[in-house]
Amino acid sequence: MLVTLNEVLLDAKKNKYAVGLFNTVNLEMAMGVLAAAEELRSPVIIGSAECLLCYSGLDDLSNMLLPMAKRASVPVVLHFDHGLTEENVKKAIALGFSSVMYDCSTLGFEENLSAVKAICDYSHSKGITVEAEIGHVGTEEVSVPSDAYTDLDEAKQFAEFTGCDALAIAVGTSHGAYKFKPQLDFERIEKIASMIDAPLVLHGGSGLSDDDFRRAIAAGISKINIFTDINVACLKAAHDNYAAGKGMTDVMGAMSAAVKEATMKKMLLFGSNGRA
Ligand code: 13P
Ligand code: ZN
Repeated sequence: MLVTLNEVLLDAKKNKYAVGLFNTVNLEMAMGVLAAAEELRSPVIIGSAECLLCYSGLDDLSNMLLPMAKRASVPVVLHFDHGLTEENVKKAIALGFSSVMYDCSTLGFEENLSAVKAICDYSHSKGITVEAEIGHVGTEEVSVPSDAYTDLDEAKQFAEFTGCDALAIAVGTSHGAYKFKPQLDFERIEKIASMIDAPLVLHGGSGLSDDDFRRAIAAGISKINIFTDINVACLKAAHDNYAAGKGMTDVMGAMSAAVKEATMKKMLLFGSNGRA
């Protein structure tokens, strides 16, 4: 069934587990992630990010993912991840996404604040939830210097003023395959979690250790974003099966199965199994 972030993250925050966002940019990935959620009776968040729209656009994605989300036997949030433009955020909402991220984290604090507040007011009037980011989670190349991590007072002011439904914070993770060993600032997560009501989000989940996930969730993370790991699992299955002489339809099945397995591993670590 299609739900918003509130239906899955408020319980996760209360009961100290995390719900995974798994970006699903094609049918094989969507089938794999939803099969994992149904088998483990886990709530799940699917969707795509604005930087991935050149591979599969919002219209096609919503036509594919919305019926799949509605039909699923577990709660599914259809979330537009890292929306960068007001135009695409509003388009995602018009197409039926139940949740959006408006990522203005590269702007200054005041600009981020007012841009996100406007989108929160717009989205909430339509029953859609909003995630925002304070501090900035970068790419895999370099670790973000700790002085660019989320500031505690800014996070509090931002969450209270905007009324955002989830807040992504910068605490030492980066997007993509890490080229350095991530060192998470668990203490900062704990402090921010104690100061604000909105559930906290950890981006750049691929490549973190099992212990990182456990400690981040214990400290107060309620949503963890994963893309690279299921991407790699999908691609490896395609490669291995093609190399073994399998045809296209067999390769498609193997891709979904690999995504399902990789997703299930994360759900078990996040503790979202049995929560649907
Ligand atoms: P990874 O690709 O590093 O897992 O990051 C996912 C993410 O944060 C999507 O928003
Ligand atoms: Zn992200």
